[in-house]
Amino acid sequence: MEAAAVSRIGLAGLAVMGQNLALNIAEKGFPISVYNRTTSKVDETLDRAHTEGQLPLTGHYTPRDFVLSIQKPRSVIILVKAGAPVDQTIAALAAHMEPGDTIIDGGNEWYENTERRIVEATDKGLLYLGMGVSGGEEGARNGPSLMPGGSYEAYSNIKDIVEKVAAQVEDGPCVTYIGEGGSGNFVKMVHNGIEYGDMQLISEAYDVLKNVGGLSNTELADIFDEWNRGELESFLIEITGDIFKVKDEHGEGELVDKILDKTGMKGTGKWTVQQAAELSIACPTIAASLDCRFLSGLKDQREAAAKVFTEAGLKEEVATVRSGIDKKRLIDDVRQALYASKICSYAQGMNLLRAKSDEKSWKLNFGELARIWKGGCIIRAVFLDRIKKAYQRNPNLASLLVDPDFAKEMVQRQAAWRRVVGLAISAGISTPGMCASLAYFDTYRRARLPANLVQAQRDLFGAHTYERVDREGSFHTEWTKLARKKA
Ligand SMILES: *[C@@H]1O[C@H](CO)[C@@H](O)[C@H](O)[C@H]1NC(C)=O
Repeated sequence: MEAAAVSRIGLAGLAVMGQNLALNIAEKGFPISVYNRTTSKVDETLDRAHTEGQLPLTGHYTPRDFVLSIQKPRSVIILVKAGAPVDQTIAALAAHMEPGDTIIDGGNEWYENTERRIVEATDKGLLYLGMGVSGGEEGARNGPSLMPGGSYEAYSNIKDIVEKVAAQVEDGPCVTYIGEGGSGNFVKMVHNGIEYGDMQLISEAYDVLKNVGGLSNTELADIFDEWNRGELESFLIEITGDIFKVKDEHGEGELVDKILDKTGMKGTGKWTVQQAAELSIACPTIAASLDCRFLSGLKDQREAAAKVFTEAGLKEEVATVRSGIDKKRLIDDVRQALYASKICSYAQGMNLLRAKSDEKSWKLNFGELARIWKGGCIIRAVFLDRIKKAYQRNPNLASLLVDPDFAKEMVQRQAAWRRVVGLAISAGISTPGMCASLAYFDTYRRARLPANLVQAQRDLFGAHTYERVDREGSFHTEWTKLARKKA
């Protein structure tokens, strides 16, 4: 005889994220079944459920037992590595599932894989969601930001669960139905791209304060703690403040100075930039952060290049620039530069989402996206509330930059922003993210660009034609003949 189906939901894939999300769901009062091919993972999770408060969690050792232990219509979350492992896990579970049951992929999956799986699931009568989960281990356990996209009916089946499990902020749980198809994965991908940008910009602020301002780690810790009490208040600013405080247990000073300067990556940032190019949306700040990760990886080449340029006579200008610096003012300027650069980066990410939403008819609600990022996720920040309000005021906002409130903030901060970028350039300290943001701002806000000259060149060598500012139509000119005609 079969055991009674007692669980409200199931979760397969018990690596760190899976375990933590399962425990979170159980803790919120939803009996959950868990499964992993590796049986020790099931036992580990059972142990944790026991020690972390007698949570309503049952472990299962075969896909069949696992699936049959869940109440119908069944909802099963899978949290395994994106790509082939997801297809394998679906195949193992779907063999025991019935029409009306739901599969929810909580991994960082490429959105087109989700769209393919939606079609495959639909053929079997199954419902499917691709759900972005942000917040790392801690978020999964205590309240992540969740971005579910796909079948609305599937979402309705688990709405009560995800609304309890997600992080809670003053305007609700950090989850909403994102839209159809792979929209949940796509939104999570752009979230990660924005996260790349934020981390890059913070690292540049650190570089300028440390090398131009001469700030110690203790001073940096204080500054970031102070920033975290103002407009920059956010998870990433907060943890950065903490990082500067940690001493190196293997030697003098702080651990941060001993860390190899090579950044790892898993792919969502690269996908974001590829999608931006695909959709002809400028995302220079996010692209700069990606490029910086590539260059950081060339540690050996950079060390060799440093030698080559010293031998070629390059003089470090940092000391000269530093000697004339007003430290207090620099700190305040960097804070403003960071904030203004961040707004530009979010404007790019939101515009990428808008372009994709239009292409796919996802009808994304940008105010809601900003709201569910206010808690749980890595980019959570107080200023997302301002972004939410900007899109509530005007859902068709062409760019965050032209929201009247943000426009005012940009204008107020631009002098400080230009001073920081200018100082960094003269000191030879690269600030690709801040420079990209500033150039984006200066390009977007100018009614007239030098694109007229590029058009003239294209028409000269390729007869690509051009339009005029003063009359309708497309024109072609025999530029060379006219230019070289004897007077
Ligand atoms: C189970 O655990 C292993 C090792 O942690 C992992 O590679 C695998 O994808 C997990 N998931 C499932 C559904 O078996």
